[in-house]
Amino acid sequence: MFEDLGQAYLPQTRWPRRMVDRDKCEKCLRCIDSCPTAGFEKDEEGFPVPVGYGGMDQACLNCWNCVAVCPSGALTIEGPYQVPAGRYRTLTTGEVRFPDPLADGRPWDQAEPELTDTEKLIYKRRSNRLFKKKPVPKHLLHRIVEAGRFAPSAGNCQPYKFIVVTDRALINEVEKGSMEILRRLKNWYLSPSGRRSKAKAALFTAASLLAANKLDPRPFTAMEKADRENNVIYWGAPAVIFICKNPRGISNPDLDCGIAAQNMVLTAHSLGLGTCYIGLSIEPLNFPNMAGTRKKLGITPPWKAITSIAIGWPRGKIDKVVKRDSPPVEWIG
Ligand SMILES: Cc1cc2nc3c(=O)[nH]c(=O)nc-3n(C[C@H](O)[C@H](O)[C@H](O)COP(=O)(O)O)c2cc1C
Repeated sequence: MFEDLGQAYLPQTRWPRRMVDRDKCEKCLRCIDSCPTAGFEKDEEGFPVPVGYGGMDQACLNCWNCVAVCPSGALTIEGPYQVPAGRYRTLTTGEVRFPDPLADGRPWDQAEPELTDTEKLIYKRRSNRLFKKKPVPKHLLHRIVEAGRFAPSAGNCQPYKFIVVTDRALINEVEKGSMEILRRLKNWYLSPSGRRSKAKAALFTAASLLAANKLDPRPFTAMEKADRENNVIYWGAPAVIFICKNPRGISNPDLDCGIAAQNMVLTAHSLGLGTCYIGLSIEPLNFPNMAGTRKKLGITPPWKAITSIAIGWPRGKIDKVVKRDSPPVEWIG
């Protein structure tokens, strides 16, 4: 009768398997540095080794960025992230494959010449986590923000505010304050040994009824990485744009914010810049102990942060096409 109580807490999970071909690997460790999670370690010989964390056998989001940034083609990935039990069941159903873009059976190299520049940009954009220190000129940040302003929004109400931060001290303050909150949550939820206490399992299962998506194991491995890297959440990016919503926007202002953000991201990549959406700091920013930081950022009522984008010049080649899982698509008519 009570068996279900521990089901949603650290549920049985199938993670993708990353493999490193040691004959090809040049030990540059770009895979470790650009991995969003604590998913790799370096062994005594200097090779990257895929690892797990907190009782999970692997820590991997299936983003393929390690494959994209590897200069020697040493990395391959097999298998999906799947949660067969509990409340965090993967939304993807059906046969899991990793087709190249356009999924018509042709390899990317053959399809690419026929695509528009916009299509190429969409497929090649990767989240960038390796930034140069070099600042982004203000006129380019202005062009990025303008692309957000011209995004479609319900009722054309443009329910957003964009906050462009290039002040390193303030970015550090956001990271430090966020990490203090995330660290507590992470250390409470995941025990490094992977042992489960029955009381905790029941508590987290109950919590997952209220917010099923918040306790998925994957983001916790990203929190662990930020913790190990001394609060690095924004990956050292020289600029961050916060996208805030006015909750009184018509219909669904969160969606409007997302659309504006993606206009900015694609524009930044078209300018040769790299970007990474950063959500890790967003929930913590709502906490009472970050009120001072919110005020410095200008996130005061009615504004509420919805997401943020780290922006800077990429260190080495990062934008590259990857394979991706296929969500269900129905064709009707
Ligand atoms: C709303 C949102 C929040 C995200 N938050 C983070 C984050 O906090 N840290 C991070 O490194 N990546 C973050 N990402 C990036 C995702 O991990 C990434 O988009 C995904 O793994 C797919 O990889 P790709 O962007 O290279 O295609 C976020 C993405 C989105 C859309």
